[in-house]
Amino acid sequence: MLCSCSLLFAAILVLEKQVLQDLIKPRKVEFHSLNFNSTLHWQPGRARGARDTVYFVQYKVSLCPTACLKHLPPFLLFLHRYGQSTWQNKDDCWGIQNHVCDLTNETSDIQEPYYGRVKATSTGVYSDWSVSCRFTPWQETMIGPPTVTVDHSNKSITLKLRAPRSPYRRKTGSKIPMTKYYDLLYKVFIINNLLDEQHRVLVYEGKDKVIKIEGLRPGVSYCIVAKTYVPMLDHSSAYSSKKCTVLQ
Ligand SMILES: *[C@@H]1O[C@H](CO)[C@@H](O)[C@H](O)[C@H]1NC(C)=O
Ligand SMILES: *[C@@H]1O[C@H](CO)[C@@H](O)[C@H](O)[C@H]1NC(C)=O
Ligand SMILES: *[C@@H]1O[C@H](CO)[C@@H](O)[C@H](O)[C@H]1NC(C)=O
Repeated sequence: MLCSCSLLFAAILVLEKQVLQDLIKPRKVEFHSLNFNSTLHWQPGRARGARDTVYFVQYKVSLCPTACLKHLPPFLLFLHRYGQSTWQNKDDCWGIQNHVCDLTNETSDIQEPYYGRVKATSTGVYSDWSVSCRFTPWQETMIGPPTVTVDHSNKSITLKLRAPRSPYRRKTGSKIPMTKYYDLLYKVFIINNLLDEQHRVLVYEGKDKVIKIEGLRPGVSYCIVAKTYVPMLDHSSAYSSKKCTVLQ
């Protein structure tokens, strides 16, 4: 009687451990990337209030470029995704309490596909790894809007556009602009404040960094917003912040 009780007790402990492992396993492990600033994000497991949970992050570059993955049979694709061989620890994200890890430096071969994975530990129990989807920076990073500066005279507005910068640096230390990686276009919109606030009129689309908008009315307030556009990927940035001016 005693014996079967302790067996049952042991079985419950094992079960409990498995349940806890599942409860703390990180969820929704995904890359977020803006101008190649690429961070791995996740959500804590379903266990609520496990305050002492800490996380461990690994990453790997895929052995096989995106084009080759298309030709792998499914079981190799599985091995490729979950293979253990080339995972590297991210030292800065080893035993952290945050739910985010900066992998910008580790994903700097922007044409290569990467994976990230996270595991959690709480009260001596370790979860399994949660793996991200494949992440290829060049294809998936979001491009930011240009920086816009505005100069105006009586009947015209002159804009200067500056492409967003990547986090990667030249030997000289300056940050490499996104124009080095993509054929970028700018889209410039004007908002005439006499009209509907939401009514943006496209006034320019192209690569110029200095743009003059003419034929405007003195005494009227105009606002400018701009976007970056990557034709090859059909990716558009968010709107830049609004720059307004009243023509003299
Ligand atoms: C990325 O690398 C640069 C230069 O090696 C270093 O200064 C920076 O701290 C690193 N950042 C991260 C988040 O690892
Ligand atoms: C703007 O108009 C004023 C008169 O309305 C004129 O004196 C001034 O020279 C004009 N400035 C420019 C830059 O055209
Ligand atoms: C990426 O962006 C975050 C948030 O803006 C910033 O703290 C971090 O330093 C950036 N990473 C790099 C490598 O520039």
